[in-house]
Amino acid sequence: MGGVGRDVAGGRSEKQSRLTYRWYLRMALGSISRQAYAKVNLTLEVIGRRDDGYHDVTTILQTVDLADTVVIRAADELAVECDVADLSGEGNLAWQAAAALAVRAGIVPRAHIRIEKRIPVASGLGGGSADAAATLVGLNRLWRLGLSGEELADVASGLGSDVPFLLDGGTALGVGRGDELAALPGLPESRMLLVVPGSSIEAKTPTMYRALRPEDFSDGARTQAVARELGHGALTSASCCNAFERAAREIFPGLANVWSKVAEVTEYPPRLSGAGPALYVMPSSESERIRVVESLQGTGAAAYLVRTISPWG
Ligand code: C5P
Repeated sequence: MGGVGRDVAGGRSEKQSRLTYRWYLRMALGSISRQAYAKVNLTLEVIGRRDDGYHDVTTILQTVDLADTVVIRAADELAVECDVADLSGEGNLAWQAAAALAVRAGIVPRAHIRIEKRIPVASGLGGGSADAAATLVGLNRLWRLGLSGEELADVASGLGSDVPFLLDGGTALGVGRGDELAALPGLPESRMLLVVPGSSIEAKTPTMYRALRPEDFSDGARTQAVARELGHGALTSASCCNAFERAAREIFPGLANVWSKVAEVTEYPPRLSGAGPALYVMPSSESERIRVVESLQGTGAAAYLVRTISPWG
């Protein structure tokens, strides 16, 4: 029995009950819920170092139907609550998204943001960036700011290189830091297997960029070839590429073992997503997922069968 029933039974006046009811109704109507979809990098080529501490990349980004849920409602002050306890509060990129949007709009950030996590954290699947993107879209509505997609993308790129893509998702080519986007023909809906090792590393993305050696850099030609393949039949993970694969095998504890176990039982080769350590195999199937789960017993890795998705396009 919930608290409301106890309050009424405890002798609350009819007027109080009506107010409580209206408050709940307002909350129910006033909350905005948005799915925050994970991304996979079908290709990720690193072209060169830049003077601003970033690297120029050429990447094809794709959203998949593994998603966090972000629920936003009006509140007196800013709060971020996450079902993964140490992701609550100011350290969450969603908090920084709300703060940056409020600065842009010249207002005080007042909202309660609740995040239900399903995307594995710090895995190369863009979970934190997806939550930040969903927060920007949700708060643009809640605060009635009327910012255009371009204006939101501008705020998003200040939060992280993957955030602009995750505002809209779908299939896109990313250049520059990865935040300059061009839409690509959508991939025909495919099933993909995501394999996520049980642990990641501290300061993962900068560590992985620093670990790159000259032979890991490339000129973007493979990405251009994959971009041409999109929309013309089935793309497989065999055609995909990722500049971090060599470094990832060396740096993420246990990844090389997980990688070879997966490769032994899947039809197409596993590829790294983002700066890792998540792997994907495409296309895949439920029977392949079962084989992979069996082969990964005792490693702490998890497997998710997902679909590519173009959620708002
Ligand atoms: O943009 P994001 O916040 O994800 O970047 C985290 C860090 O990863 C950057 O501070 C930078 O060290 C590195 N990075 C990079 N080149 C990129 C993207 C990220 O060097 N294109």
